[in-house]
Amino acid sequence: MTPEDTPGLATTGPVKVVGAGLLGASVGLALSAAGVPVQLEDASPASLALARDMGAGTPATLTDPEPVLVVVATPPDVTADVVLAQLRRHPRAVVTDVASVKRIVVDEVLAAGPDAARYVGSHPMAGRERSGASAADADLFVGRPWVVVETPQSLPAAVLAVRALAVDLGATPVRLGADEHDDAVALVSHLPQLAASLVAARLVTAPDGALALAGQGLRDVTRIAASDPRLWASILAGNAAPVARALREVRGDVDALVAALDRAAEDGPLTPGAMAALADVVGAGNAGAARIPGKHGGAPRRYGYVSVLVPDAPGELGRLFSEVGEAGVNIEDLQLEHSAGARAGLARLAVLPTAVGPLEKALDERGWRVVAE
Ligand SMILES: NC(=O)c1ccc[n+]([C@@H]2O[C@H](COP(=O)([O-])OP(=O)(O)OC[C@H]3O[C@@H](n4cnc5c(N)ncnc54)[C@H](O)[C@@H]3O)[C@@H](O)[C@H]2O)c1
Repeated sequence: MTPEDTPGLATTGPVKVVGAGLLGASVGLALSAAGVPVQLEDASPASLALARDMGAGTPATLTDPEPVLVVVATPPDVTADVVLAQLRRHPRAVVTDVASVKRIVVDEVLAAGPDAARYVGSHPMAGRERSGASAADADLFVGRPWVVVETPQSLPAAVLAVRALAVDLGATPVRLGADEHDDAVALVSHLPQLAASLVAARLVTAPDGALALAGQGLRDVTRIAASDPRLWASILAGNAAPVARALREVRGDVDALVAALDRAAEDGPLTPGAMAALADVVGAGNAGAARIPGKHGGAPRRYGYVSVLVPDAPGELGRLFSEVGEAGVNIEDLQLEHSAGARAGLARLAVLPTAVGPLEKALDERGWRVVAE
């Protein structure tokens, strides 16, 4: 994002960012790049210096002009305290937070009294599994939903300022209540994190030989298992009841699945009922996955797939992409699969279903090894 291509931001600044890690530094980078003055604060001098060096803003000082907006991007367990301290320290500023849980923050801020009118909670649905300013990105929020949680006391002007921040950073504001938000993220964010962690935890004692067989399925399912344990402990504890509810439902499904597998193991795979019970679980997964919105938040879309063997050599993937482009086909999504010890990777290109045949033919003619799906 550059000042030239972000004309007329509604957020004028100064903006103060408290907690200059992944989220805070990403906000700072995007606003600074658009010419908005950003003051940074962090409990860790090293994190603060890193965010400053990356261009996310300048460390806050006692002589700074008063911020018009304070963005609190600290871990959820300290967020309410930090929000309250900022409301007191800057008596005219709107204060928002970006914590991944909302009810615990909103309740504590509302309990503190009249300053709460200048507080509006928020949660950008953007992030990554790495923490800290070194993983920050000015474009982190582009095209993502940004949940805005106003309280019964929030001033309309405060709500507008937070919605404007979301829009200025390329996100789409979505209005939700705190409980509605917490239930939703328990299902679409916190449960997936736990599923990834639980599956990956099974690998700790797995034999090396078994791990050498790992393919893209395991990598897909465990990608977010690399998340920061401290931050996630704070998120999960902060949303304990909704997450426990979602997990209990999964436990019911797991119990039924284990019972069907036990029957198949004891009485043979063709024992009545066992096969249907197993197919039901996978079928329900198909139905759920089909409901996940497609690219840019659009309706779920079915793609066709073209798998191509790509030599493990510099420039080969780039050559494949340009030749797909020359064939007039847009790559909608991409998966790359590597096997331990292999000298080639498998690129699985998602394209519109009507493009599968022509693309396979075009790539074949150009000498690529197209692998049957
Ligand atoms: N990581 C994600 O993908 C993601 C996505 C959306 C929202 N969030 C939320 O954003 C917030 C920040 O997450 P993050 O991923 O940027 O974490 P992070 O660990 O990268 O950054 C947090 C920063 O807050 C600082 N900090 C901690 N306590 C502080 C205090 N009392 N005062 C000032 N600074 C303090 C830390 O030193 C650190 O630099 C969390 O509430 C998280 O739930 C995270």
